[in-house]
Amino acid sequence: MIPGQKTAAVPRLRQLFMEDSIEFKLQNAEATRKLGAVLGETIDSAVVIGLQGDLGAGKTTLTQGLAEKLGVEESVNSPTFLMLNEYHSGRMPLYHFDLYRLQEDIESGSAAMGNLEAELAEFMQSPKVAVVVEWLDLYEQFSAPYDELRVKLAYLPETESEGRSVVIKARGRGAELLLKAVKKEFNL
Ligand SMILES: Nc1ncnc2c1ncn2[C@@H]1O[C@H](COP(=O)(O)OP(=O)(O)O)[C@@H](O)[C@H]1O
Ligand SMILES: [Mg+2]
Repeated sequence: MIPGQKTAAVPRLRQLFMEDSIEFKLQNAEATRKLGAVLGETIDSAVVIGLQGDLGAGKTTLTQGLAEKLGVEESVNSPTFLMLNEYHSGRMPLYHFDLYRLQEDIESGSAAMGNLEAELAEFMQSPKVAVVVEWLDLYEQFSAPYDELRVKLAYLPETESEGRSVVIKARGRGAELLLKAVKKEFNL
């Protein structure tokens, strides 16, 4: 074994795992909306956009920016009574899931989750489709085999500012293209 070779592999490996993740600040709601808009402008394949973050973190704001750039005509809100909203007026379909209301189903392993997974599988067969999933972290299996952009929104400490922090990770080529566009648009 050549010790030099082994140590050289460590930074390379780290780079491999870290290069598709970014973290930055969204100073106001307009910035959150713009992040969504960049995704809506750029998306050109079937990608799951998983949104994490507490209530009020900005998940719906981001989705609204995305929908607008897709050309969705209806107004987009949190799926309050339904666990899934669909929009077909844009340049590709937008499916907006909210797993928060499914917490009990998730915990009891009810058939509802199986049905939703089957629906997701069907949606993801389209060559071009945007699937936004709020609270994806509650049920990690949900997006497992698909290209996925994971967006984690969080409140900043009160002393710092009113904005939000965001961490974005990409898995798969379609998601990597989205991440690249975000980097460019936000000068990262
Ligand atoms: N980066 C930001 N900085 C400050 N306020 C924001 C930011 N992003 C969104 N907001 C505001 O936070 C509030 C809640 O946003 P919303 O998108 O409804 O959150 P969620 O869907 O995660 O519950 C809205 O009033 C929105 O304008
Ligand atoms: Mg919401």
